[in-house]
Amino acid sequence: MAPVSPRQPAVPAWLSEAVLYQVYPQSFADSNGDGIGDLPGVTAHLDHLADLGVSALWLSPCFSSEFGDAGYDVADYLAIAPRYGTNADLAELVGAAAARGIRVLLDLVPGHTSHRHPWFQRAAHDPGDDRYIWSERITAPVHEWIPNQGRRGGFYRANFYPIQPALNFGYARPDPAEPWRSPVDAPGPLANRAALREIMAHWFGLGVAGFRVDMAASLVKDDPGQVETGKLWGELRAWLDREHPDKVLIAEWGDPARSVPAGLHADFFLHFNGRALRSLWDNGSGSQGSWAHGEPCYFDPDGAGSPAEFLTAWQAADAAIAGRGLVALPTANHDFSRLACGPRTGEQLACAFAFLLSWPSLPVVYYGDEIGMRYVPGLPDKEGSQFGTEARQGSRTPMQWDDTPGAGFSTAEQADFYLPLDPAPDRPSVAAQRADPASTLNQVRRLIRLRRETPELGTGGTVTVLADGYPLAYLRGTTHLVVVNPRREPAELALPQLTAAALPLLVQGVRTTPGAVRADGFGYGIFRL
Ligand code: NOJ
Ligand code: CA
Repeated sequence: MAPVSPRQPAVPAWLSEAVLYQVYPQSFADSNGDGIGDLPGVTAHLDHLADLGVSALWLSPCFSSEFGDAGYDVADYLAIAPRYGTNADLAELVGAAAARGIRVLLDLVPGHTSHRHPWFQRAAHDPGDDRYIWSERITAPVHEWIPNQGRRGGFYRANFYPIQPALNFGYARPDPAEPWRSPVDAPGPLANRAALREIMAHWFGLGVAGFRVDMAASLVKDDPGQVETGKLWGELRAWLDREHPDKVLIAEWGDPARSVPAGLHADFFLHFNGRALRSLWDNGSGSQGSWAHGEPCYFDPDGAGSPAEFLTAWQAADAAIAGRGLVALPTANHDFSRLACGPRTGEQLACAFAFLLSWPSLPVVYYGDEIGMRYVPGLPDKEGSQFGTEARQGSRTPMQWDDTPGAGFSTAEQADFYLPLDPAPDRPSVAAQRADPASTLNQVRRLIRLRRETPELGTGGTVTVLADGYPLAYLRGTTHLVVVNPRREPAELALPQLTAAALPLLVQGVRTTPGAVRADGFGYGIFRL
């Protein structure tokens, strides 16, 4: 019988119990009045995160950069960008977060550097370089080959924007007739793998708990099924398990069925890969890319959507993962429209959070979504935010801390803010919502607390869907019932097994009777059976 390869260990307990929060550092809190958020600003607002109940935060890239792609163009992986502070400020943030039981994750950008990175600056002049992918001629895919300005001449392969030269991790199908197709174990690709370990170890030394991994699927080129890319992550995972067993990698890959078995601890459902995420949230407004195809989403006030696509994708991913890792489910992110977008109003948000925080995925709250910050349409490009038709800047506006003219984000002139504030006179703020027990913020706080106090609602237990329309109803284990009705109209469901003993734990507009449940529009309820 063929030997069975040992399964990788399951993820650290802190991750499977986590509620993750994404901070976009330039837009969160400005401590020194230059109009750009920074690390001391994050440190100064940790009490908000502790109060909200999140247990880990992920900072989008905060490294040295010319900010041609808002920091996803890294010029020095080992140094905090001066506009955000210093490495010492990061260490201070990590320590202050730890004192509140919060872990800090950074963003690893393994697939490309900035064209300003010293590795590329050298390579552009060196005909012997193989840390990047070089060709003397343009070949398919044509738009990915960029003329080199350095003495070496030729063309380099870009990974995203032209200013982001792809690091060379080799090709799955080398071809001597196309010499830029290095094998995955050629010296350049191996040097790049080693560099990833050095970068990670550097930040682990400062107490960082792990990384969100940018474009994790992009490393090995021409890689059918991402088999070689998966092996690369498997190798890095084995290194982590050996040397840093408490640290984690959360992929931006968008295919957990592939990425988690390969070795990543978790992977996001993403807007540009499949419909799992969009079928929940994307109402066709806000930032729309080539992936948009106008189907109604489930969290739709007219009740025109269905959770079926999400449920099918979830079941497939969950079966493939088989307990080895997690599917991360975000409210939004810096590339994708916020929950409060277009016609979706604040009153509709809490039932989305009730679902997010009672489903067995890893919940990820995008900064500001906890108060229902709006996607702001019509803003100009900022640092490469406009990507084709995708106006990503609308999701990147300054955090709204209070109701002062600068929203407590910064003391700079508003003209100097990283991006304009939401101009709406009734824009939500943390201060106002903290004072209102019925606010989105306080509902999200209660939902997070309930999840963290109730292991049955977390990533470990089973989920059994009882109804997949309006309402959506499911059991967590055998002990908890969740009902969400994200449409405007009420909904009713016969549940013959429901008894008078069902105890409401957290309820908004949902009532049970023996044998049935009735939900108001935008209602949700979590019950102990
Ligand atoms: C995905 C990031 O989330 C996005 O913001 C960035 O532009 C690209 N990767 C390139 O790094
Ligand atoms: Ca600042």
